[in-house]
Amino acid sequence: MNSVKNVLLGVTGGIAAYRAPELVRLLRKSGIGVRVAMTKNAELFVTPMTLETVSERKVWRAGWQEQENPLIHLTESNDYDLALIAPATANFIGKLAGGIADDLLSTLVLALACPVYVAPAMNPRMYSNRAVVDNLDILKKRGFIVIPPEDGETACGEVGEGRLPQLPKLVEIVRHGLGLKSDLEGVKIVVTAGRTEEPLDPVRYLSNRSSGKMGLAIAAAAQGRGAEVILIHGIMSKRIPENIKSMPVRTAREMYSAVSNAFAGCDALVMTAAVADYRPAEIAPNKIKKKEGRRTIELTENPDILASMGQKKTKQIVIGFAAETENAVNNGRKKLLEKNADLICVNDVSRLNIGFDSDFNELTFVTKQSVRQSGKLAKRILAEKVLDIFVELTSEVKRTATGGNE
Ligand code: PMT
Repeated sequence: MNSVKNVLLGVTGGIAAYRAPELVRLLRKSGIGVRVAMTKNAELFVTPMTLETVSERKVWRAGWQEQENPLIHLTESNDYDLALIAPATANFIGKLAGGIADDLLSTLVLALACPVYVAPAMNPRMYSNRAVVDNLDILKKRGFIVIPPEDGETACGEVGEGRLPQLPKLVEIVRHGLGLKSDLEGVKIVVTAGRTEEPLDPVRYLSNRSSGKMGLAIAAAAQGRGAEVILIHGIMSKRIPENIKSMPVRTAREMYSAVSNAFAGCDALVMTAAVADYRPAEIAPNKIKKKEGRRTIELTENPDILASMGQKKTKQIVIGFAAETENAVNNGRKKLLEKNADLICVNDVSRLNIGFDSDFNELTFVTKQSVRQSGKLAKRILAEKVLDIFVELTSEVKRTATGGNE
C-alpha cells in the first residue's frame, strides 16, 4: 500500500451518491488510499464497478455473501485512519444512532477503531426533522464528527440545508482529520524510479533488482502533500496507481532524455531509479548464438543523469540516492560533491531486509550541512522524511536569497 493514510468511504443510498466516484478520485489524487463500503440502496445510484475502478480496490458491498471472509467486519476494522460516511442518509444516520448493524457498512462502523465523519445529505425538510436532528445529536455525543450540509438547491428542487458539501471541501476536512500536511502545494517534483534495462540482443539485457517501491513511495507522498508530480520510471515490479502521472522509459539514455525535458520546469528532482552506468557498446540485431569458449561484452558509459542535472540546476533542489555496500557517510559526501546534489540518501544494498525490493529501507541523509540516520523504516515513512528535508533545503535557499530576512 503506497498511500500514507487510508480512509474507509461509506456510501449510502441518496441521490448525492452519484458524486462518490469523484470524491474517491479527489481523495486518491491527494495521496489518500480509499476503500469503499456501500449499502444496497447506494447501488441504486452508483455501481460497485465504478467505485472499484476509481478506488482500484475491491468494494465492500452490503451482504456477507459477496465477501470471501465472513469476519471481514472485524478483520478490516483496524485498517483505516479515518472513516467518512458520504452521503449519509436519514435512514443510515438513524441506524448509527440506534446501534443497528444489519449490513456490512453499519456493522463495520460499530467495530471501527478510527474517527468516523458523517456527512448528511438529504431533502431540507428531512434534514430538519426532529428525528434526524436528535439522531445527529446522539452521534455527536458519541464522538462522531458531523459535517454540516450546505445550504442551497437540493436535487429535488427544494432550497435549504441538505446538500452534500463541495467535494474539495470534504477532501480538505478529511486531510485535516488525518493530520496531513499540504506544504508542497504549487511545487513541481520529478521522481525517477525502477530499473533501467540495456539491451544486448533482441531477447537479453543488463539490469538490476530495483522494484521501484522507493520511488513510488516518494511520488505518492509528494502528491499527498499537494505537489504536482511526474514519475519517470524504468521497469517496475509494482503497478503504478492511475492517479500518479507517469512516463515509462526503458534505457538510461531514454531516462536521461525524459528527465532533461522535465527538469527545466520543476522545483525538485528525486532520483531513486537504479540506472545502469554502462550499456553494451553494440546491440546485436539477432539473438547471440552459443559458441565455444569465452565471450566478452564491450560496455560503454551511459550518461550520468543526476550529475548532468546537478550541473544544469538553477532553482532546483537535486536529490540523489546512493546504492552502497560500505562507508555510507564518505561515499554519500563524495556523491554529493561529484553530482552537485543537495541531498544524497545512502542505502546499504548488501542487506536483504532493506533497499532493493523490500518494503523497508534505512537511509543516511547527507547534505552539505549535516548527516542524519533514519533507522530502519517503511519506505512510505522514509518518503515523508526525504520530503521534510526537501522543505528544509528550500527554506534555506529562500533564507540565503533574502539575506536571512525570511
Ligand atoms: O526500487 P527499490 O526496490 O525500492 O529499491 C530502492 C533502491 C535501492 C533502488 C534506491 O533506494 C536506490 O538506492 N537508488 C539509487 C540506485 C543507484 O543507481 O545508485 P548509484 O549509487 O549507482 O547512483 C547514484 C545516483 O545517481 C542515483 O540517484 C542514481 O539514480 C543516479 N544515477 C546513476 C547512474 C546514472 N547513469 N545516472 C544517474 O542519474
